[in-house]
Amino acid sequence: MFDDKVRELPTLRWAMVGGGKGSQIGYAHRCGATRDGLFRLVAGAFDIDPQRGREFGVKLGVLPERCYDNYQTMFALESKRDDGINVVSIATPNSTHYEITKCALLAGIHVVCEKPVTFTLKEAEELKAIAKDHGLILGVMYGYSGFQMVHQARSLVQNNLLGEIRVINMQFAHGFHSQEVELNDPGAKWRMNPNISGPTYVLGDIGTHAFYLGQLITGLAVKKLCCSRQSFVKSRAPLEDNAHVMMHFENGAVGMLWASAVNAGSMHQQKIRVVGEKASIEWWDERPNQLIYEEQGKPSQVLERGMGYLDSHDDAISSDRIGAGHAEGFFESWANVYARFAVVINAANANDWQTVNATWFPDVDAGIEGVRWLERCVESADNDEKWVAYRE
Ligand code: NAI
Repeated sequence: MFDDKVRELPTLRWAMVGGGKGSQIGYAHRCGATRDGLFRLVAGAFDIDPQRGREFGVKLGVLPERCYDNYQTMFALESKRDDGINVVSIATPNSTHYEITKCALLAGIHVVCEKPVTFTLKEAEELKAIAKDHGLILGVMYGYSGFQMVHQARSLVQNNLLGEIRVINMQFAHGFHSQEVELNDPGAKWRMNPNISGPTYVLGDIGTHAFYLGQLITGLAVKKLCCSRQSFVKSRAPLEDNAHVMMHFENGAVGMLWASAVNAGSMHQQKIRVVGEKASIEWWDERPNQLIYEEQGKPSQVLERGMGYLDSHDDAISSDRIGAGHAEGFFESWANVYARFAVVINAANANDWQTVNATWFPDVDAGIEGVRWLERCVESADNDEKWVAYRE
């Protein structure tokens, strides 16, 4: 079951930038962060519209004087208070992540930032350096990475049950934007605008999730990649609503990632399949409680969350919140990620970098790799789909 020792950690004073009324992902942050009493929402600049943000914050139980008009004022005033915020989550459109994260870190505040963490690799690496200089945690909200069966998959790879990894196929391909829905949907509209979304649409918006899961499960480094991207809804150009990325990994494995918003009829189809020389595993985010394990020459097995046969020393069990059999899902995954953020932020506050380094969480390097991958994908796709080295 869930490791209750985590719940004994000091409660962090937490704020949000963005995630206001009607936003897509603000609620998931609040559910994930506050579920274990590890984060208490005490301040916020919740909305681009200050009045709406204040009203919303007060509804959430935040004192009116701590519902700020903008993030600059919030970081400046909160960093002067004895009971000021320790950590902020940034759930605003992509173009704002770099400036807001930088401003928070310079004010001495730990950050959990949405993905993609920045527009460019240079900016992401600069943020990493600032966090390091100030002894702060910069986490990135790859929210699917808290699912227990993802960690079981990782454990099977680490314990060599699959043998040498040969193929990694990743996909996140939904159908919600098969038509030009952005005409009537502000949350979709900014995603198709390069000034707000960045150099990519589906690659950054959903491809980075599947890419991170593939990296988390296998730990394999990308050597080179080749990307093809296109906008089937023509008005979305130059941003893509569909992309395929072929990848070669350092150990000789190969892989493919399909990111799409035009997979008509599909809900999410976020699937990670890892093929080794002895066996394969497959995880699907729409059925997160199960992990398929297929050993060559034997019947396929469906491993179920919470069961005693999972690796008991591993995150697969210590993140289990409600026991086997009960359906568990999205908020539990987010809460598991937030619980990790609480562990490392408290450790950093105690100058205990050994614990930080020994604890898995989606850190700034995970954010950096997402941005590096996006830069290389764009470089490849926009140069006649040529192969490009993953690292310089
Ligand atoms: P949204 O457009 O639904 O909401 C954005 C919110 O930020 C709104 O409340 C808006 O008023 C506020 N905002 C915008 N600029 C602001 C500023 N300067 N100061 C304060 N508030 C500001 O956007 P959505 O879909 O919630 O996405 C936000 C971020 O979360 C994006 O970076 C997106 O990529 C990411 N995201 C991540 C998901 C995940 O699974 N980790 C899922 C969905 C989105």
